[in-house]
This record gives sequence, C-alpha cells and structure tokens, in this order.
Amino acid sequence: MCGIVGILGKGAAAPRIVEALKRLEYRGYDSAGVATLWHGELHRVRAEGKLRNLEAKLAAHPLEGEIGIGHTRWATHGKPTETNAHPHASDRLAVVHNGIIENFRTLRDELIAKGYRFATETDTEIAAFLVTDELAQGKTPAEAVHATLGRLRGAFALVFLFKGEDNLLIGARQGAPLAVGQGEGEMFLGSDALALAPFTDRIAYLEEGDWVIATRESVEFRDAGNNVVTRRFIKSPAGGLLAEKGNYRHFMAKEIHEQPEVIGHTISHYVDLSAQRLKPFDWPCDPMSLNRISIVACGTASMAGLIGKYWIERFARLPVEVDVASEYRYREPPIDKGGLTIFVSQSGETADTLASMRYVREHGGRTIAVVNVPTSSIARLADVVAPTLAGPEIGVASTKAFTCQLVAMAVLALALGRARGVLSEAEEGARVAELVATPGLLAEVLKLEPAVEKIAQTLAQARDVLYLGRGAAYPLALEGALKLKELSYIHAEGYAAGELKHGPIALIDSAMPVIVLGPRDPVFEKTISNMQEVAARGGRIVLIGDAHAAEEAAVAIESFLAMPDMAPTFAPIVYAAPVQMLAYHTAVIMGKDADQPRNLAKSVTVE
Ligand code: M6R
Repeated sequence: MCGIVGILGKGAAAPRIVEALKRLEYRGYDSAGVATLWHGELHRVRAEGKLRNLEAKLAAHPLEGEIGIGHTRWATHGKPTETNAHPHASDRLAVVHNGIIENFRTLRDELIAKGYRFATETDTEIAAFLVTDELAQGKTPAEAVHATLGRLRGAFALVFLFKGEDNLLIGARQGAPLAVGQGEGEMFLGSDALALAPFTDRIAYLEEGDWVIATRESVEFRDAGNNVVTRRFIKSPAGGLLAEKGNYRHFMAKEIHEQPEVIGHTISHYVDLSAQRLKPFDWPCDPMSLNRISIVACGTASMAGLIGKYWIERFARLPVEVDVASEYRYREPPIDKGGLTIFVSQSGETADTLASMRYVREHGGRTIAVVNVPTSSIARLADVVAPTLAGPEIGVASTKAFTCQLVAMAVLALALGRARGVLSEAEEGARVAELVATPGLLAEVLKLEPAVEKIAQTLAQARDVLYLGRGAAYPLALEGALKLKELSYIHAEGYAAGELKHGPIALIDSAMPVIVLGPRDPVFEKTISNMQEVAARGGRIVLIGDAHAAEEAAVAIESFLAMPDMAPTFAPIVYAAPVQMLAYHTAVIMGKDADQPRNLAKSVTVE
C-alpha cells in the first residue's frame, strides 16, 4: 500500500510530485522516489526513509522535466532501501506501483531466463521488464502495457513513464485505486483525489480492471476487455490545503482534541437536534426482514464494529456477528440474500474490507459503509453510505475516526431498533439525549490530559500492559491495547475482564500495569470483582472510572483517572479519549514517532 502519482504538466514536475506525495504519505513512508523525463531521457532520484530525505536529495540534485512519476512506499517485497525504492526502471521506461504482483516469482524466472538482470528485491521490477520486453518486440507503449497487464496477478495500481515519450503516461488499476485528474492542458494520475487536489478538482476514478492512456490533452479509459469506455469526471470535494498541525506537536494530538467537534458534526448529520430524534435513514433492505447483521472491518474500525454489536443487539434485538475482513473474505461465509452487512472503514480503501464488500455484493447481500472518505472505493461500492464526519485523519493511529464510527454505530443501532419496532419513541428520545451529551463529556475528559500524562510516565517503563473491560468496554480494552502497541511498541493485550481467570491471570505480577476500563454500567460490580482478583495477586491497577469508582473498588489502586458522571450507554465514545491519550503520551515520552509509527501505513491497500 503505497502512494503513486504521475504528472503530465507545464513547468517543473518534480516539486509538484513531491507535493502530491506529501498527501500520500499516509499510505507508506519507508522510502520515496521521483522519475522525470528531460530531453527524452529518464532521470530518477530515490531515498530511503521519510519523504523529507527525498526532498533533501532533490534540493541538492534537482530533477528537470515537465512529466514525471513519484512514489511513497510501504515495503511488501524487499527491505525499505534506496535500491528497492520506486520508481523502478529499465532502459525504456520507469514505473511506480502500489500493491502486490502475486505471480512475480514465475515471471521473474522467465525474465531472468531471457537475460534480464534484476537490481531489486521488489515484485515491481518485473512489470518494468515485461513491458520493456514487449516494446522490444516492436509493440507501442499502449500495446506493451496491455499485453503485460494480462499476465499480472494480484492487486495493483501502476503508472508507466516512457523514455522518449514526453506526452504520455499509462496507468492501470486492478484491486488498488487510481484516479485521473484533468487540468488546463495538464493531466494527473494518483492514488486518490487528495493527492491531486493542489492541481485539479476534476477527478475520474478507474473502475476495477481499467487502464488508461493519458496525454496532456486527452485521456482514454479502457476496461479489462480492452474496450474504450467512459469514466465520468466529477468535481471532487477533496480540499486543496494540506491539513496542518496547528499548535499541536503531532497530528494525533490535534485529532484527539478535535473529537468533541467532529463527533458533534457526525451526531448532527444523523440527529434532528431540536426534536432530539433520529433523522430518517435510507436502509438498503427492509429492516423487518433481517434475521442477523454482519459487521466487517479491520483494526480499529473492527473495534468500532465490536462495540456496535453490543448496541445493535441491545436496541434492535438482532444477532450480530463481527469479523475482521482478512478472515471474512476467505472463509466463504454464507450470505443471506437481501441480508445486511455493515462495513466500517476510515479510509474506505482497506483492501481486505473492500474485497469482503465485493464478496457480499456478489452473493446478493446488501451493504452499508460506515466510512470517512466519501470518494473512497468502499463508499462508491456500498449500497448506502453512513458517513463519519471526522475530516481528514492524518495520524496513522485512528482516533477521531474511531469515535465518529462509534457515533455512526450508535445511530444505526437506534435507527434499526425503531425501524424494527422494538425501540419505543420514548427510549429513542432518551438514548438520543445521551448520545448528544457525548461531545460535551469528551471535551471535559480532554482536560484530564495532565493526569493521563503522569500515568503514561509509568506505562513507558513497562514491558507488557493488560487492558480489561466488560460489556462494550471490552472492545475498548482491545482498542486500548492496539493503540499502545502500534504507537509505543510495548506489548499490550485487551481482555474481557471476566475472562481473566481463564488464563491471563497467570501473567499478573508487580511489573505489569493492568488498565481497567470501568464505566458505571450494569456490570460495574463484576468489574470490581475482577479488579480485586488482580489486586489479590499483587497486580498494579490503573483504574479509569467515575469519581466514586476507586473508593467502591476498595482495593489498592496505583493510578486513578476520575471520569465525569455519565449515562453508561455510550460511555465507550467518551472513555476512548483517555485510552488514546495514554497511548499517545507513552509514545511521546518514549521518543517514538506518534504520527508515523514504524512499519505501519494509514491506509492498508494490500492484503
Ligand atoms: O481505513 P480503515 O479504517 O479501513 O483502516 C483499518 C485499520 O487499518 C486501522 O484502523 C488501523 O488499525 C489503525 N492504524 C489503528 O489505529
């Protein structure tokens, strides 16, 4: 899952390519590169590490040329070295690639037998050599790319730049997104509209299997069968300005603090605030006909799905199963014709989630996408979109998108309950009022940051951390552990508090902090019992609960974070904030990069 861009422009291409790559860094940031054409010859500059390293190299050795391609990488095949950085090149062309070419070993052996010498460990270089080989047989660039595409298996997006072709880029999409942007006598290709936003807002998306022949003046879309097809240009809402950190040290800190505002926006999208009632929701199927609901997502989005399960089962009285998309897509799950599957995704581009959605649609299921990027592949494929209005989320660790996903799940649960006639109007009003209170409560909780930072000082010393919760706080415990792992690289696990005694209690000792998420809900007393079990074994308890929680627990507590009093129903939305702040501050104290943790990417477009 890398970011790719191609520019057929006027004026120097390289600085514009770098500008676009900055917007694609969320897709990977372990190396980057640019290739341009100058007087018909290919020139490349590549650098290991973050984009700033490439910028520094380009400042020292500027690339001339008005046409070029660029890449920011998340390594799949081969270490993140300069040699493995894209663009990859032959003597005839350069290419950038996002995705995985699955049959690359066979193709590589074939090319080696023909005398091609590989300089890199990547799967991409075979695409460069295959097209080169076709060109050597006298084919035109378009014919050569078309012949090559037919031989590649996997999920990929590609953009080719050809030696001697000052007015041609060829792109292709199979399982990974590619957009075309049309300017005034200029043409752009990129992984998304956001990357192209500084140059144009006229965007067309390639459909699955499409490839495209672009010049400055024209663009020809072809489908998988090589038929010329029309893909509509639309005005893209992607903003031209790159999100700024403002006064915050990291995007993640800013995004944590934006939560009261963005969950407020999301709530007002679904709720008539003056009437304190839900606005009508456009279901893709008859809610009365449903026997169950499936929720499919990855990572943090799947935690939002797990919390949604608690709410849907409670308010709509429907069984819910939640799956991580990477398992779901290959399990061949039976799909109810006309049944409902909800897909949750911030980026809307996660490969496994997208493939799972395709699977459900192909088998006659109906789909809702809870998605943050309205122009994304998942949003475009879904029957109905339930948007989260978090705005661009730049920090790799999901924070504000998560709490907005929780809002969407809460609304869907209540709306389903109403549509199925199992939730009364009075209860709808009461629950909506609780939901509407969450932005204010979240704002209050953010003021606890200095206390959270103190706890983070101790977490930063730990080797392992356990998170416990019951009810809807259990998936939040999973989310807490995920956040801490991805940001601080400390091993952490989330457990259902009641499950502790079935094994993990053996881990409890005086070295491991146990973070207990204990909102005052109907299972709070049970959580207290579990805390006592930890205390009895000398465990170090960090309790996050309301003002009286520590007193009631009546056990030795190492640290206590006093949360405001609140109705328990949607407590995970509010309790998410200390969990996020803990992970953030622990990472910062440990000197880790909170916005771009090692080995990760924001949008996971490979499986
Ligand atoms: O864009 P998506 O919501 O589909 O992404 C899913 C996961 O990759 C994402 O939530 C990931 O787990 C985050 N890094 C968690 O902070």
